[in-house]
Amino acid sequence: MDKKIVKLDSIERLKEELVKNNLYLPISEDIKVLRNPVNIGDKTIPNRIGIHPMEGCDGTKDGKPDELTIRRYDRFAKSGAGLLWLEATAVVNEGRANSRQLFINEDTKEDFKKLVTRIKQTAKDNYGEENIPYTVMQLTHSGRYSKPKDKPEPIIAAENEYLDPFLPKDYKTITDGELEALEDSYVKAAILAKETGIDAVDIKSCHRYLNSELLSAHLRSGKYGGSFENRTRFLIHIVDKIKSAVGEELDVTLRMNAYDAIPYPYGFGVDKQDFRKPDLYEPVRLIKMLRDRGIKLINISCGNPYYNPHIGRPYDLGPYNPLTTPLFNTVLMLNVVKTLQESVPEVAIVATGLSWLKDLSPYVAAGGIKEGWFKIAGFGRQAFAYPEFAKDILETGRLERSKCCICCSKCTEIMRTGGKAGCVIKDSEIYLPIYKQGITGEVNLNSDRIAEHI
Ligand SMILES: Cc1cc2nc3c(=O)[nH]c(=O)nc-3n(C[C@H](O)[C@H](O)[C@H](O)COP(=O)(O)O)c2cc1C
Repeated sequence: MDKKIVKLDSIERLKEELVKNNLYLPISEDIKVLRNPVNIGDKTIPNRIGIHPMEGCDGTKDGKPDELTIRRYDRFAKSGAGLLWLEATAVVNEGRANSRQLFINEDTKEDFKKLVTRIKQTAKDNYGEENIPYTVMQLTHSGRYSKPKDKPEPIIAAENEYLDPFLPKDYKTITDGELEALEDSYVKAAILAKETGIDAVDIKSCHRYLNSELLSAHLRSGKYGGSFENRTRFLIHIVDKIKSAVGEELDVTLRMNAYDAIPYPYGFGVDKQDFRKPDLYEPVRLIKMLRDRGIKLINISCGNPYYNPHIGRPYDLGPYNPLTTPLFNTVLMLNVVKTLQESVPEVAIVATGLSWLKDLSPYVAAGGIKEGWFKIAGFGRQAFAYPEFAKDILETGRLERSKCCICCSKCTEIMRTGGKAGCVIKDSEIYLPIYKQGITGEVNLNSDRIAEHI
């Protein structure tokens, strides 16, 4: 594929580039389909635009939403998006990814309740009762990326030839007994989450955090490793236990990595001979099992933000220059989404991989829904850069190119240097000073060692 940076500033240019590279994306200039609601059981997602979970690393030390957290969710609540998937929220202290990661427990529950109430009220004030977004709390254990006191304290599920070299020597492997106890911590967190008024909890299963790692723990012994049944045991147990503890009022969902792009036997959803190709046999099998357990909404993602971020977050400027273009990776991820949606047409699949398309993303979002690739178009970085993007798409049918995310990776650079994450370019008043502090090292809290490979 042609690697020089191509400027895709019109639908015609996008179509040309797709044809030139023998790729295909569904495109529709008529975006009306994005205004249609989707029912999730007896709840409703009022339109087809979702905001993906994105950590701001800006909670209080004890895990409550803080000033910048509330500011971010105020902006998202005013965005007009029908689905707000709140960021990674730890279920135990040792599984926090940083000392400002949100953490749900008895002491923080009331603050989460205030946040959820505020989100729903703000959306209602702006768009009316019928447009209150469906909200999800993403429950997590950061596993090998745990850093509760701002220095890495990895807890791995299985050894990994590709990822272990980036860990400090003293990492710990979680035992079967600890995993069993952790299942109950997720249940406890879900019970608390229900009291906050959130619509659903996500058993986070993506980006190679603990539960995502378990899905590919082929080489782990014991009851959580080896066979497909063992590797999915932790997730399935948590889903079943939460459902029996909270009943129908709180929905259970997940954000799942369907393709890790890490060689077998270390990656999930990969072709055994060539990790550059997805093999979705197991991801499909897993989401069918989840559908059979009554799960009605699943968010699909790919890759690992520390090891191969170009897979799940196509960028124009990032930590390394990958061998493939962002257009190729966008098409790859959306094809993964398509295969999964086609395998469970009754489930609402949320697509990842649209922000890089900038002002052309509404047309792929609409095309994807019309052609059955997914039911909800999810946006991550675009929401940081252009929080009113959903309103603009739904009301005017277009995005202003000058307001769009430029996919420069500075929001993640901030995270890696220990800062509070947001858009350095389009929300510069708040985030440019934070970014500058990070790169001059003044607030550098033991930055991660990011794999700059592949
Ligand atoms: C700063 C930042 C924080 C993120 N935090 C999370 C998170 O908490 N949970 C999660 O599942 N994904 C997280 N992501 C990944 C995004 O949800 C999304 O998958 C990714 O940015 C690709 O979507 P996009 O192309 O629309 O940005 C984060 C991404 C960024 C840039």
